[in-house]
Amino acid sequence: MKITHIAVLAVASLSASVAFAQAKPEDQIKYRQSAMTINARSNGALNAMAKGDVPFNKEVAQRYATVIAELSDLPLLAGAYGPGTDRGALTKADPKVWSEPEKFKAAFDRFTVAAKALPAAAGDLATLKTALAELGKTCKGCHDNYRMNDYRM
Ligand code: HEC
Repeated sequence: MKITHIAVLAVASLSASVAFAQAKPEDQIKYRQSAMTINARSNGALNAMAKGDVPFNKEVAQRYATVIAELSDLPLLAGAYGPGTDRGALTKADPKVWSEPEKFKAAFDRFTVAAKALPAAAGDLATLKTALAELGKTCKGCHDNYRMNDYRM
């Protein structure tokens, strides 16, 4: 039973990554930027609660936290940084993403770990604040190295 379940999951994720790997470069770029946009909006909503700009609401907080957790590793799983996605007027990804892939992956993994910890932390304002601070460090840590200020032609 368990083994069947794992096999189904493995096949499903394999075919998902194959399908995504074949996506056109511009679609991969759009995909990773869209995931970032949704993460950023959700992060903003949570930060507004953390700062007290809007009242803390446990259900809303957990919903946004879950969105971030679920989306965090998709750009890597789905192959959104594939061949041909390093150039183009539409990307701000730094060439170092491709020249130092292990370091980039490590930065992504730090983000994913912080993101996956969010939903459990979002049930309480104090733990949410701590988890958001940790998450924010991983956004900045990656952007400082791997996102450029301008589009790359
Ligand atoms: C492991 C690296 C990494 C992490 C972690 C990361 N980002 Fe990004 N982010 C990027 C890269 C690379 C781009 C540029 C993508 C492109 O233009 O192709 C980007 C782009 C963006 C964009 C612009 C999207 C667009 O439409 O152009 C926003 C907003 C953003 N990130 C927010 C965040 C927030 C908020 C977090 C943390 C919750 C985060 N990012 C974490 C690497 C990262």
